[in-house]
Amino acid sequence: MSTDTLSCEPSIFDVTAFDHDTSFAQVLQDLQTKGWSVLDDFFSEAFTQALIEEALVIETDNMLQAGVGRQKDHQIALNARRDYIQWIDPDTGVRGDFLEVMESLRTELNRRLYLGLFDYEAHFARYDKGAFYEKHVDAFKGKSNRVLSTVFYLNEEWEENDGGELVIYDEHNPDQELGRFLPKKGRLAIFLSECFYHEVRLSHKTRYSIAGWFRVNNTTGKSLDPDQ
Ligand code: OGA
Ligand code: MN
Repeated sequence: MSTDTLSCEPSIFDVTAFDHDTSFAQVLQDLQTKGWSVLDDFFSEAFTQALIEEALVIETDNMLQAGVGRQKDHQIALNARRDYIQWIDPDTGVRGDFLEVMESLRTELNRRLYLGLFDYEAHFARYDKGAFYEKHVDAFKGKSNRVLSTVFYLNEEWEENDGGELVIYDEHNPDQELGRFLPKKGRLAIFLSECFYHEVRLSHKTRYSIAGWFRVNNTTGKSLDPDQ
């Protein structure tokens, strides 16, 4: 082992070795033409498997009941959403590898689409049987620093009748469905946070994912951006 790969928790995955060129190019093209993208096999099979294992061992005691709103407006709204989350922090091991790929996607988005994305925050999410997240947007215009939402799915077996689909609605007509996507292992959904209403349909079994947001830095004067 060379010294530059030494760390307390060395990564067993060379995530950068997996060729992301094609999927990144597809993401860029989709975002440019329609503002959203859903891609399969975003990571290598082995890496996705490692993320699944990571998600499966998170204990509920170490998770938060997800809420709605930010900072002082934050409240747990069980009628709106019923998932448990754990922020990816600290970002070591396989979590660090995940963030590393998202970081290279961030660079690519900035380079090609001039989005000026500043950072990326992400959390594991678990929807138990009976959980859902009602139709919402992840960012209100001018009120948030979230620009792009991502959801990476970690479910080995998922059939039509298991529910839990991500539904994305039309940007200009939020009553109109653009698509329904099963939360299948290896699938990545990415969309403009302010533009697309979306929802998680009632899940009939435990559903795992990593939700994340690319953000801009809106820091002005003395007020610092909230970090979540
Ligand atoms: C979210 C969200 C969608 C999904 O966490 O804000 O909309 O498919 N998630 O899990
Ligand atoms: Mn959302």
